[in-house]
Amino acid sequence: MSLAMSKDPVLERRSVRRYTAEDVDERDVRKVLEAAMAAPSAGNERPWHFLVLRDRGLLDGVMKVHPYAQMLKQSPVAVLVCGDPTLEKYKGFWVQDCAAATENMLIMAVQLGLGAVWLGIYPIEERVDGLRQLLGLPENVTPFALVPLGHPAEEKRAIDRYVEDRVHQDGW
Ligand SMILES: Cc1cc2nc3c(=O)[nH]c(=O)nc-3n(C[C@H](O)[C@H](O)[C@H](O)COP(=O)(O)O)c2cc1C
Repeated sequence: MSLAMSKDPVLERRSVRRYTAEDVDERDVRKVLEAAMAAPSAGNERPWHFLVLRDRGLLDGVMKVHPYAQMLKQSPVAVLVCGDPTLEKYKGFWVQDCAAATENMLIMAVQLGLGAVWLGIYPIEERVDGLRQLLGLPENVTPFALVPLGHPAEEKRAIDRYVEDRVHQDGW
């Protein structure tokens, strides 16, 4: 079976930035959050928080502090992944933990037939500070990535990005 025909949600995942006007069911948002919290984390510390944003004023506010987030105009909901280093046992791993949670969310979105995209926030200071202010985040909580969710209004094909040169067997 060719990759393009694959139904594997990991290989099929693409950034979807156009959405229909249809709302995203709360049960689907819940499944996306369950996927996020099922991610592996260093020492199983799970140093994360998730903000579900549906308020139009807030979503518009995010677009003012994030230059590449215009798809928020169309998305009915977005989930902000935040890290909390004070919850860490093993210092410095929170970024990787939050990245694993974010990727899990994107994969679950594919499973649910939703469109989603990873919007990078951390470590760009203006975006971190802008979101901290907009959403009243406590000092110990750092916004990491935002994931808009919607029903896809564009179709993206899977791309085979396997590159043999980047694979090294038993040393360089
Ligand atoms: C850390 C990170 C930050 C990203 N930030 C943005 C962003 O700010 N805006 C955006 O439209 N896409 C963003 N993306 C999505 C990438 O542009 C996208 O994953 C890449 O072009 C590959 O395309 P694909 O996701 O369709 O496979 C980001 C992805 C990652 C992993």
